[in-house]
Amino acid sequence: MNRLRQSLTTVLTGLLIGVGAQAQAQMSQLQVAQVQDIPSLPPLQAARTTGDSIFPALGQLGLDVLNYDLTLTVARPGTSELRGEVTLTLTATQPLAQIQLDFFGPTVSAVRWNGRPVVFRSDIAAQKLLVVPPAPLLPGVEATLTVSYAGAPGIVRDPDFSYPLELGWQSVPGDEASAGATRAGANFTLSEPNGTHTFLPSNDHPSDKATFTTRITVPAGFTGAASGVQVSQTELEGGFQTFVFRQAQPIPTYALAIHVNQFERVESPAVPVGVGGSPVQRRDYFPVGTAQPTREAYARTAEMLRVLSGWFGPYPFEAYGVAVVTPQLPALETATLSTMPVTSSREPVALHELAHQWFGNAITPADWSDVWLNEGFATYAELLWAEAQGQDGQAIAARWMDTLNRRGTRPLVARTPEQLFDTSAYQRGALALHALRVAVGDDRFRAFLQAYTARYSGGTVRTADLLALAQTQVGPEGEAALKLWIESPALPALPILP
Ligand code: ARG
Ligand code: ZN
Repeated sequence: MNRLRQSLTTVLTGLLIGVGAQAQAQMSQLQVAQVQDIPSLPPLQAARTTGDSIFPALGQLGLDVLNYDLTLTVARPGTSELRGEVTLTLTATQPLAQIQLDFFGPTVSAVRWNGRPVVFRSDIAAQKLLVVPPAPLLPGVEATLTVSYAGAPGIVRDPDFSYPLELGWQSVPGDEASAGATRAGANFTLSEPNGTHTFLPSNDHPSDKATFTTRITVPAGFTGAASGVQVSQTELEGGFQTFVFRQAQPIPTYALAIHVNQFERVESPAVPVGVGGSPVQRRDYFPVGTAQPTREAYARTAEMLRVLSGWFGPYPFEAYGVAVVTPQLPALETATLSTMPVTSSREPVALHELAHQWFGNAITPADWSDVWLNEGFATYAELLWAEAQGQDGQAIAARWMDTLNRRGTRPLVARTPEQLFDTSAYQRGALALHALRVAVGDDRFRAFLQAYTARYSGGTVRTADLLALAQTQVGPEGEAALKLWIESPALPALPILP
């Protein structure tokens, strides 16, 4: 911190409304304490959340997490027992007298601000961890916040009630040793949309993307895996190993992959479809004993990377692959390492999750109501892949149309949690892109997709941004086609490819 900033901090601290002199004095007395909940803690004002239109309680307005450096110990894979310490590198877009992270996880034992213990409170009902820094966090200033915790993660039920799903940290007990083979216990993350804060104190909203370093310690014989590239694997005393991963491009919290299992890690040749033709590392994690048909769903990943980067532009991350899991759950496009249940190990699903690396992970909706920008694009990618295999794309579009006619539809911007992953988000979202393609032709459609990824990769987007880009990139007829499919209460007519 430079001199100028330091004096600015002092001045602004004094001026801040909401942090009166009395409260400030109290805070400075308290800041040395390290307690779970001090009765004399000054009343904490509710900080403003991000105000998401579907999940209004998530996140903190004005908080910008730049990086999470997470150290996790999974001493008994397959149980919910977890020990973690995370250091968040923070900055703010407006002065913040308190930090209110989303957290519904294990018990917090200590919180440090720039390395020094600070006051905190776990508000379990609100699923928040409240922290009062010694001085407000100001725009342009960086600070670190370290949270240590241990115990069992909380449970967040899936807002999409078509699945009886508990989001966040998953624990898969191992089989008891019996006569033949046994299955090891496993753990992994499955968080979209709002499960990450069951195991990670975080600004758990897609508008605040961040980079991650993930360090996973597991017993000998187990493998830890996470989003990003593996940077080290170290043996510790006492029969443990630590695996470290770096996710150097920002991703939304829900897309963080962490896996622990007895894995076979299968490497394949890198594919030169990254930014500037850089090689994309290829590695897949199969639980020991994974059957051949399951593995075959991933045999054509290199070709999928080539076909999709031909439409969407460079693959946005440094690595790609899957981690297969045994429970019957929805597949999830966790960044650089899609989480693929055995029951979803089919080529179209594999392709769909790969497409989400561009649409969802690299380009992320800033509000959950815009999640069709993920699902519609990933679904349309299935059609583009099918065409590349010589299949009839128009026939696929016609089937989507039938489904929508049977099940009913809605304008694409979601209004309830139940709509996030419904048929309209997927099939109607895909048909909106089909309509754009039919309106402007393949070349301009491809140029539009690549302009969209070039403009928004690494950032966040709203439906209005897509329309604005259509206006400038493909003109009024393209924009009108998209707009009709986005906004019309009724289902528009099926667009037909020439
Ligand atoms: N994004 C995932 C996929 O299509 C679906 C996630 C469904 N999530 C849920 N909470 N129901 O590929
Ligand atoms: Zn999807």
